[in-house]
Amino acid sequence: MKKADQKKGLSTRAIHAGHDNSADPHKPLITPIYQTASYAFDEVDGLWAFYQKRSERLAEYARYGTPTQRAVEETLMALEGAEDAIVTSSGMNAIASAICASMSAGEHMVTLREGYRGTFKMFDQHLARFGFSVSYADVSLQAIQAACNDKTRVVFLEFPTNPYLKLIDLAALVAFAKSRGIVTIVDATLASPLNLQALPLGIDLVTHSLTKYLNGHNDVIAGAVLGQAAMIEKVRSVRNLLGSNPDPHQCYLLSRGIKTFAVRMKEHNRSALTIAEWLAKHPRVEKVWYPLVKSHPHFDLAQRYLKGGGGLISFQVKGADSSQEAGLKASTALIEALKIPTLGASLGGVESLIHQPTVMSYYDMDAAARLKEGIFDNLIRFSVGLEDTEDLIADFEQALSQI
Ligand SMILES: Cc1ncc(COP(=O)(O)O)c(C=O)c1O
Repeated sequence: MKKADQKKGLSTRAIHAGHDNSADPHKPLITPIYQTASYAFDEVDGLWAFYQKRSERLAEYARYGTPTQRAVEETLMALEGAEDAIVTSSGMNAIASAICASMSAGEHMVTLREGYRGTFKMFDQHLARFGFSVSYADVSLQAIQAACNDKTRVVFLEFPTNPYLKLIDLAALVAFAKSRGIVTIVDATLASPLNLQALPLGIDLVTHSLTKYLNGHNDVIAGAVLGQAAMIEKVRSVRNLLGSNPDPHQCYLLSRGIKTFAVRMKEHNRSALTIAEWLAKHPRVEKVWYPLVKSHPHFDLAQRYLKGGGGLISFQVKGADSSQEAGLKASTALIEALKIPTLGASLGGVESLIHQPTVMSYYDMDAAARLKEGIFDNLIRFSVGLEDTEDLIADFEQALSQI
């Protein structure tokens, strides 16, 4: 694979790093889809050489990897400045693999109260059954520190968090965690490698749902874990033995999507900031949650840690009064009046997607339980796609005038 030149810009790395097909006699420009379950060896000594790491062979069996997959991993390493990386069949699997490689039964993990609910369900419904205890802290370093005990092995958090895009002081977290021998794992999906470089700050492992900005086309589910080689080797072992390697077609789509990642991400940042500032001034909008809008509680941290605010905007609409019922009615009316964004889950793709967390991730809770989780029924989560900003604003203008 072509070696990454870290001095080159993010787009140059996204397009070229990882794709070195010069040893192939046909010299394809694009890394081929290596559709095979097994690899052939000419003689037994070739197999010995492979196991004794005396050959260039990647694997003897495709559950351990394919060249299509390794190309994606090397591109991601170049984007994050990571020593090593693995790709996985989903973002959830990336998180699960990173945690399973870092913790054992009887140990403890601290995470934030705010984040993707699927991750919390995985912790509570499954990891807990295997003896991984979890504490949930408010979004502050002090709360994380207070939740740690002498069994704490991992601090896991999203940066920024979903859906309110909150932040903590990562450098201070690293200093604290290192002093206690705690592994830090950051799900940087919402930031992406364009807006946040967490590894140089000393974070141990970074995970991504590649499903979102990195692939960017709402057509692939995949994940990645990045970090130092020794730690990634442990995560790779979990992935390979649980069998959560993505298949070569999935990897081909990823490598195709990632090539335009930096260009797309800059536009997500620009368009979302314009729309967030516009929404913040609208009389029917109660509050906008976007890290680079001044009213966000963590605006200062965002300026320090993020190169852009990303493509996700959460905002609360004004209902007829301050009740949850009125909020739900107003947010439903707005979503149904919009013509461009599609009502659906996920984020980070070219198509704008919109929903109410109440009716998506938190559909199974009653209003009181949702409020306890900090989810207001007038809250809307809008993933700004790559449609023209003016068209999206005009669409919101007409839809807001109807609620
Ligand atoms: C912040 C975040 N992390 C992880 C995930 C899980 O990713 P995937 O759906 O690729 O498993 C999601 C999914 O929505 C997410 O929003």
